[in-house]
Amino acid sequence: MRKVTIQACADIALVKYWGKKDEVLRLPENGSFSMMLDGLTTTTSVEFDEKLLRDEVTIDGEKIHEEQKRVVQQLDRVRELAHVQLFARVTSQNSFPKSTGLSSSSSAFAALTVATTRAAGLMLTQKELSILARQGSGSACRCVCGGFVEWHDGETSETSFAETFLPAEHWDLRDIVAIISNDQKNISSSEAHQSAQTSPFFTTRVKKIPEKIANVKTAITEKNFPKLGEIVEAEALEFHSILLTSQPPLVMWYPGTVQVMYAVHALRKEGVLAYFTINTGFNIHVLTLPEFEQVVAEKLKNLDLVQKIITSKVGNEPKEL
Ligand code: PMV
Repeated sequence: MRKVTIQACADIALVKYWGKKDEVLRLPENGSFSMMLDGLTTTTSVEFDEKLLRDEVTIDGEKIHEEQKRVVQQLDRVRELAHVQLFARVTSQNSFPKSTGLSSSSSAFAALTVATTRAAGLMLTQKELSILARQGSGSACRCVCGGFVEWHDGETSETSFAETFLPAEHWDLRDIVAIISNDQKNISSSEAHQSAQTSPFFTTRVKKIPEKIANVKTAITEKNFPKLGEIVEAEALEFHSILLTSQPPLVMWYPGTVQVMYAVHALRKEGVLAYFTINTGFNIHVLTLPEFEQVVAEKLKNLDLVQKIITSKVGNEPKEL
């Protein structure tokens, strides 16, 4: 059996997935919409080997990790589909700090799913890959696709999958991540989802999502950046208001996160089009247009609480190396 190496992009959710209506199948409470990021990638090799006595998983150069169990469960799903009984050697490398709010599980489980199915001799459709990737990590179902991607929430496993709305070439946007810290989050988003419904504002949020996704799609189709930016920034704050009002409350921001928010607002006052969004963590994304990339990057790099920046263009679907 051949060794397969796949590189997948992480994404940034413009309308976020938050809360699960089925924990085991990872069916989301709401649909979501994201953009792939070519500067944040996971490269994963998978090889089934009859000499192995158990699965061997190495992530970012380290052998034993708490993610091991989830990786093995994903290997099991593929083994069952492909009727393969062998153990596998999995080696995975992230181009960015994992577990810091940059959705490393989205690219990781997308790369793992595509690499494992191919190594097991399966050739699945993108929809089948999306359904399988979703069971490893929800957001990973979007990262088997390229460009601007919608995840249909669905009522069953077969109807909950993602697809490309428009390809990366449609619109040259830039995403600049400001790294505030490399600390590992003290709660994974996988666990944090479980408290979503405890926020008194959660049902209101879920009701508004279909309209929000429709507006994001219109803004992207029309390439209307201020319209997109305003929706995305308001959505990030609304999402964090759910985290702040959940039981137990989840305060994700660090002082540097807030420093970046102020800087983005100051840039807009000067006519520079930039908008922020944040997932579950302290590191923060700033969306902008190519003509403003340099000025935004300079501004962020000069903030005393920003350690470094990572710039991305809109990314494509996973590729085999
Ligand atoms: O796929 P998970 O369990 O890592 O959850 C992702 C949650 C957010 O990043 C906050 C939102 C999203 O849609 O990516």
